[in-house]
Amino acid sequence: MKAQLEAIRLEAKDAVMSAKDGAEIENLRVKYLGKKGELTAILKQMGSLSPEERPIMGQLVNQAKAEVENLIAERSEQMKAAALEQKLKDETIDITLPATEIKKGKLHPLNTVLNDMIDIFTSMGFDVVDGPEVETDHYNFECLNVPADHPARDMQDTFYLAENLLLRTQTSAAQIRTMENRKPPIRVICPGRVFRADEVDATHSPVFHQIEGLVVDKGVTMCDLKGVLEEFAREIYGKDTAVKFRPSFFPFTEPSVEVDVTCSECGGKGCRVCKGSGWIEILGAGMVHPNVLRSCGIDPEEYFGFAFGIGLDRLTTTRYKISDIRLLFENDKRFLDQF
Ligand code: DAH
Repeated sequence: MKAQLEAIRLEAKDAVMSAKDGAEIENLRVKYLGKKGELTAILKQMGSLSPEERPIMGQLVNQAKAEVENLIAERSEQMKAAALEQKLKDETIDITLPATEIKKGKLHPLNTVLNDMIDIFTSMGFDVVDGPEVETDHYNFECLNVPADHPARDMQDTFYLAENLLLRTQTSAAQIRTMENRKPPIRVICPGRVFRADEVDATHSPVFHQIEGLVVDKGVTMCDLKGVLEEFAREIYGKDTAVKFRPSFFPFTEPSVEVDVTCSECGGKGCRVCKGSGWIEILGAGMVHPNVLRSCGIDPEEYFGFAFGIGLDRLTTTRYKISDIRLLFENDKRFLDQF
């Protein structure tokens, strides 16, 4: 019986140590230690032994059982560790490899300046309104005091989609739409894209951007216009910026002005950008013409208004010292990445 036990012990040891996986280990456990297992079977034969031999043999069998149990536990641990090792190997990440670059987008310089403008004007109590890029002749010209035969139309030729439908030449059309839809007091700006049949060069583009402003209320004067525009110019160009109001003409304002600021390139000394004058023109403005108020159903005896139209592209090129307006529209990433 001893020899038999020794044979089983050795066989079990070999089998366990060379087991390949968990299932095989489990089978061996059943085979040797299970209720019908081989070592258990030996215990059952003990009845045939003499009372003296019994405890000795019992001890040996228990020792063998414990040994096999330990081996099984040991082998299971080994297999677990090996599996983990393999998993780590398979899932290795080389953290020294350069990461895939995540490209972050950013605002186009025109939008950065526009956002600043919106901040400035909303802080002064203006609302932002929108207007259509395809306009009617009525809103783009007629109501702005520019009848069909008016010479001012020459400077604002555009693309006509139908006889009375055109790509708007100025955001001023938004003034009319606003006055038709809102009652004074009115304080709005309308930023947007405008279109003209202009030749492309360093300072002209057939598509460009304006920000229209309109204020209508009782007792509004030219002083309010000056105050708002000076404040805006200083916010955009810096505190020391001088602002110059030159008399001008627009059919929809009376009186009308054009507004210049100190050239941001040379500080007013005169350079290539300001063509030696020291000044840069940034907008047109004026007191809303009584005819325009009247055509929108607002009594010009009771209400006054001022309006302004700012060129966003010029503002952007001067602020960032961009030499050619075309760069704003070419969408060359090498250029845009600089902002
Ligand atoms: N719409 C004019 C233009 O495109 C700019 C302008 C001038 C707008 C005077 C105004 C204004 O609102 O009052 O040249």
